[in-house]
Amino acid sequence: MARPVDLSRIVRETEPLLRAGISKEVDLQFDLPENLQKFYGDASQIHQLIVNLVTNAAEALEGKPGKVRIRTYPFTVTPDYLEQVFFRENAEPGPYVGLEISDTGCGIPPDQIHRIFDPFFSTRFSGRGLGLPVVLGIVRGHKGIIHLYSEPGIGTTFKILFPVAADLQETAAAPGYLTPNQTHEDESPDAEETTEHPEPGQILIADDETPVRQVMREVIERAGFTVTEAQDGEEAVSIFRQDPRRWRAVILDLTMPRMNGREAFDKIRDIREDVPVIIASGFAAQDIDLQFRDRPPSAFLQKPFRTRDLSALISRVLSSQDA
Ligand SMILES: Nc1ncnc2c1ncn2[C@@H]1O[C@H](COP(=O)(O)OP(=O)(O)OP(=O)(O)O)[C@@H](O)[C@H]1O
Ligand SMILES: [Mg+2]
Repeated sequence: MARPVDLSRIVRETEPLLRAGISKEVDLQFDLPENLQKFYGDASQIHQLIVNLVTNAAEALEGKPGKVRIRTYPFTVTPDYLEQVFFRENAEPGPYVGLEISDTGCGIPPDQIHRIFDPFFSTRFSGRGLGLPVVLGIVRGHKGIIHLYSEPGIGTTFKILFPVAADLQETAAAPGYLTPNQTHEDESPDAEETTEHPEPGQILIADDETPVRQVMREVIERAGFTVTEAQDGEEAVSIFRQDPRRWRAVILDLTMPRMNGREAFDKIRDIREDVPVIIASGFAAQDIDLQFRDRPPSAFLQKPFRTRDLSALISRVLSSQDA
């Protein structure tokens, strides 16, 4: 039964059940803002969805200490964003409410990621492979969106987005509602679309997803730069190596086949230590930080990103380099 529901409240209601069902070793964290918009949802189905995703996240820790984080947030889905998501049958751009469940577990190998929603697909000893098919069915029933990021050895993030129907959209949206998902705390709010660069140059971008590269190219070219694309880390390194001084900056996705962003980053910085490198990833910046503690990149770009996040980040990275 769909009625107006508050996602933070539904998550709070499942908390005792979640804690009872998973190992005490799991560091379960919640970030549930109070004044989310309501959407038409079936609370008992959403309970089920949360339990299935959190159970998977906890199982991914494989008995080792680790974190599972559950967060709700307002989010505006743009046409660009729809191009990048994992599942979006019939979804329309507009305001959504998001549920993000991330873990620091084993991750999903890239060659399995497209099978995890298949009924009976399981890599778990006693798994039946039914948890995610049920999640998919519930998301479909809510005309929602699924997005996910996973990196073997680092963790997995699932994002589930529920559309806010027109009659529930508040006319005077709460402040911040239209600029949601502000995950770069260090980004000053006035870092608006700065598209002026005195000396444009060449920027190398590496991402295995073509639509992501297209969006990046568009934004970067609008800012006056020339873009060269690579499909994975290996290609990025070999293009970079040909003429290392040519590049103003490099943007590397973290999760790529053949060579991931972390390895490509090391190789590129070994070739030229001072080149600005931005690491793009769907993981929270804090989780990525750990991975780059010994050798930090110039900046992180949280995916999915808004076009102005990217243009602001590029101008910030380049201006700090020029300074
Ligand atoms: N957070 C995650 N981290 C790593 N792998 C995951 C994660 N979530 C799902 N998977 C992978 O997807 C597979 C399918 O998940 P699903 O929930 O459908 O089945 P299951 O957990 O194996 O069994 P069941 O949920 O029926 O007990 C899992 O076996 C696992 O390989
Ligand atoms: Mg499961």
